[in-house]
Amino acid sequence: MPRRLLVTSALPYANGSIHFGHLVEYIQTDIWVRFQKMQGHEVHYVCADDTHGTAIMLRAEAEGITPQQLIARVGAEHKRDFDGFLVGFDHYGSTDDAATRAIAYDIYGKLRDHAKLVTTRNVEQFYDPVKSLFLPDRFIKGECPNCHAKDQYGDSCEVCGSTYAPTDLINPYSTVSGAAPIRKTSEHYFFALSDPRCRAFLEDWTQSGDRLQPEARNKIREWFDHGLHDWDISRDAPYFGFEIPDAPGKYFYVWLDAPIGYLGSFRNLCDGKGIDFAAFTDAARAGAEGTEMVHFIGKDILYFHALFWPAMLQFSGYRPPTHVFAHGFLTVNGEKMSKSRGTFITAQSYLDLGLNPEWLRYYYAAKLGNGLDDIDLNLEDFTARVNSDLVGKYVNIASRCAGFIAKRFDGKLTTPVFGEPIETQFGHAAREVADHYAAREYAKALRKVMALADIANQYVDANKPWELAKAADREAELHTVCSTALALFRDLTLYLKPVLPRLAAHVEQLLNIEPLRWSDAWKHLPAGHTIRPYEHLMTRVDPKQIAALVDANRESLKPAVEAPKTTEKKTVTETAATATTAVAPIEPTITIDDFMKIDLRVARVANAEQVEGAEKLVRLTLDLGGEQRQVFAGIKAHYEPAQLQGRLVVMVANLAPRKMRFGESQGMILAASGDGTGVFLLDADSGAQPGMRVK
Ligand code: MSP
Ligand code: ZN
Repeated sequence: MPRRLLVTSALPYANGSIHFGHLVEYIQTDIWVRFQKMQGHEVHYVCADDTHGTAIMLRAEAEGITPQQLIARVGAEHKRDFDGFLVGFDHYGSTDDAATRAIAYDIYGKLRDHAKLVTTRNVEQFYDPVKSLFLPDRFIKGECPNCHAKDQYGDSCEVCGSTYAPTDLINPYSTVSGAAPIRKTSEHYFFALSDPRCRAFLEDWTQSGDRLQPEARNKIREWFDHGLHDWDISRDAPYFGFEIPDAPGKYFYVWLDAPIGYLGSFRNLCDGKGIDFAAFTDAARAGAEGTEMVHFIGKDILYFHALFWPAMLQFSGYRPPTHVFAHGFLTVNGEKMSKSRGTFITAQSYLDLGLNPEWLRYYYAAKLGNGLDDIDLNLEDFTARVNSDLVGKYVNIASRCAGFIAKRFDGKLTTPVFGEPIETQFGHAAREVADHYAAREYAKALRKVMALADIANQYVDANKPWELAKAADREAELHTVCSTALALFRDLTLYLKPVLPRLAAHVEQLLNIEPLRWSDAWKHLPAGHTIRPYEHLMTRVDPKQIAALVDANRESLKPAVEAPKTTEKKTVTETAATATTAVAPIEPTITIDDFMKIDLRVARVANAEQVEGAEKLVRLTLDLGGEQRQVFAGIKAHYEPAQLQGRLVVMVANLAPRKMRFGESQGMILAASGDGTGVFLLDADSGAQPGMRVK
């Protein structure tokens, strides 16, 4: 009986680029999907961009575009990256979409009216009085209440690792405007996860059966021990998302509609292809028809997928997931990915440098098991592994044998002759390799495949076709050896196909065969079958390419790509490139007293805006700790006002005020400049506070 599977990967946020960490998940899922399709199962693989929330709203604002424009641009970039890494979604959508909205309203309405699991209550939160905006934890920084490190996020300290509430921060400030946040109360909507019905359902759903991995089950037991709390599912305007029906000015929190985006994306696929949506999503239908819904996620979002999501579905008449499979996090060279080390590698940089996506797919697969352990990409090992396994073992079989078939036998194969240990090893491999793939034990699957490749290579080494080719009277032997080796190569290709779909397609082309399916294993091409001339299948990884990749991703060499940064620093190379211009002569000597007359202060840009009718000016509101100043700066050609918001500058605080056409300028900010090479604002290292004196 073919299985009927709806498979998803987590929806990437629409405010950042796809990086190597993400790719662990999409490649892991894609391999599983391709494997299941090769088994002849009905599989629908969907995903979408996760588009809602404050971060995306602010990022769009900072870029001076609408959220919809931002989503469209990033969505296209994500699609390009996924195509580039051969991630074969059947549909890739966006959560900011009519189908997702309709299902969100349906689920919410059922939870509220039928299950009675929606409640309201007042919540006090930090609020940015300058931006008139409730601040998510990530947009509040301040001094860590534990170790007193400055500039720590509202939820946890990166220096000492402690976690706390944003209200615990000392001297908190909004990273959006730089203003000190105030506390403000508003009414919020909650999903009543603490309701005994939810608890009873989730105890059973998470702890019985094989829906979750054992490690995930244990983790969830700990969460149960701490008690299940109601989940805040609303946010106040301004917010980018779906407005809650009958609650003007209230929006669904992004995590409410994000998983619903799985269903919205699937709905769009169904509408386009005539697939029966309800068979996969309606609880009664899914139960009766045995369809499955399988989510692949990272372990960081387990809570959402193993508690909130199944409960939301269960109590609104939708089917809960059949499986939630979590994976660990990627480290590079044994450490967290790092922008300064160049190991925060974007999908795009890899593709732009012309590196082969199947190298990475193979390496990840060779490292992946079915648990929650982190996986390490060691860049030296990557080069060595790909070169020895794929080029040295696998491709090597074809490159040593296929040419003779074309040149000496008019492209025609003869009957292969196997013998031991080939018969036993290859003859019984299909089941074992399949079991490993099905269980997401890709490392084990590939270990088995490489062991088979070793056997195939031993066969070629022992029979030396290149010597047979030189002998006058050994044509028949040469024909048999090459045909046999290619039969083994065909099976290896079949087993590698979920991981290396493009290479497999080239081999299918070379062997002149239909797309390989699992049921083709250990079935041989008939004598007389004609293959096409051999073309090179894969090049080796050159360590220079890896060095270039790391260079391309080193933070200092390129502008930051990650949101939600409000400042963009000029880069080292940009500055270095201008160092050749003549340096202006140094001014006459002054005393320290002369210098001390200039009161230089650190200030935070609380607001920056265009000045109507001014060609060069930007109007800045500078926060000096205790007071605010208005300063007009002639930097319009060099900085977008939105980029300046929230950053630190150095200002002359005791400069006589000057009346300008647009208002009074109460100081001056410092910037470096040369001859026509640009203007570079001075910054203060992290830890500096508005009002501090510079001397
Ligand atoms: N938008 C949410 C998911 C919503 S699903 C309804 C989100 N987005 S994300 O862009 O941050 O991450 C997308 C997926 O990539 C998540 O499953 C996450 O765990 C995974 N990864 C992101 N960085 C990762 C690593 N460094 N390593 C492995 N996987 C990682 O979470
Ligand atoms: Zn700390």
